[in-house]
Amino acid sequence: MKKKRVLSGIRATGRLHLGNYLGAVKGMLALQDDPGFETLYMIADLHTMTTPYDRGNLRSAAREVVLDYLACGLDPDRSVLFIQSEVAELHTQLAFYLSTAVSVARMQHLPTYKDKVTQYPKDVTMALLNYPVLMAADILIYKASKVPVGIDQEPHLEIAREIARKMNELYGMDFPEPTRFATESGYIPSLLGEGKMSKSIEGSYISLTDDLPAIAQRLAGAPTDSGQGKKVPTEGGVANLFTLVELFEGMEKRETFEKAYVGTGVRYQDLKKELAEAISTTLKPIQKRRRELEVNASSVDQVIQEGSQKARAIAKVTVEEVRRAMGLS
Ligand code: TRP
Repeated sequence: MKKKRVLSGIRATGRLHLGNYLGAVKGMLALQDDPGFETLYMIADLHTMTTPYDRGNLRSAAREVVLDYLACGLDPDRSVLFIQSEVAELHTQLAFYLSTAVSVARMQHLPTYKDKVTQYPKDVTMALLNYPVLMAADILIYKASKVPVGIDQEPHLEIAREIARKMNELYGMDFPEPTRFATESGYIPSLLGEGKMSKSIEGSYISLTDDLPAIAQRLAGAPTDSGQGKKVPTEGGVANLFTLVELFEGMEKRETFEKAYVGTGVRYQDLKKELAEAISTTLKPIQKRRRELEVNASSVDQVIQEGSQKARAIAKVTVEEVRRAMGLS
């Protein structure tokens, strides 16, 4: 049987954090290990350009994500690892063709778009409006059917499915309708007690490079309460801490703290200390591998080059097919 394809990407906005790791990279790893899938993982540096960015830093930021991918265990012998802009002529070309199959109104009503408009009111560009179309192109160009990403990307996947359906209907294409591959952790809460862990919100995240004191310091800033109450909170800082306890120390540990909350009380100092240690234990092997990779710069460049070549070979076939189907050749 033909292997199903998997495509995912992370924007090049700097080093990865725990949210990226648990929400996306863990899913990427699981599918890489599954012989039923052919996996392609990219760095979405063109998507980075849809909001204000530092051009002096863009290339090195993309490279940093490749290093993080490798450090987390993505393996160039089993996955195609590449940078989106290395295949820009094909991804952006397909994005243009796909943009004929979706309305402006549909794009303007997306919650992800509206959030960015609020965040960057002076930088509402066509590139930003087109973000989901380019993402659909990233996925459909490889005819990927599974996409390991965080739950916040679901609206974008819905767009990709709509576009796939429309292209199949109108032009007889055979795009699969891509679905999200969810990790068990799913949504990774912010340390601040509201929203998700995000690189662009200071104090919300733990970086994959943080050592134990740094992690402890970040956790120290997480809001708490008196440690006691009639009901275990379901949202806010304390709820988020309990979620992190579950993710890194297991369900039983969470239940112990929850019992304490409605009983004798939780001492957050202890909870945070244990949690920091558990997180650090998870991150240590990743940090070790990263240090090893850092001394071997040329092998990283080779990974990028070979990955991009492999990606291009697949992407080219799809673009040619679409051009024919749409009457261009
Ligand atoms: N929008 C994704 C994010 O912010 C990044 C991304 C771009 C992506 N293209 C993609 C994810 C294609 C999956 C598939 O996380």
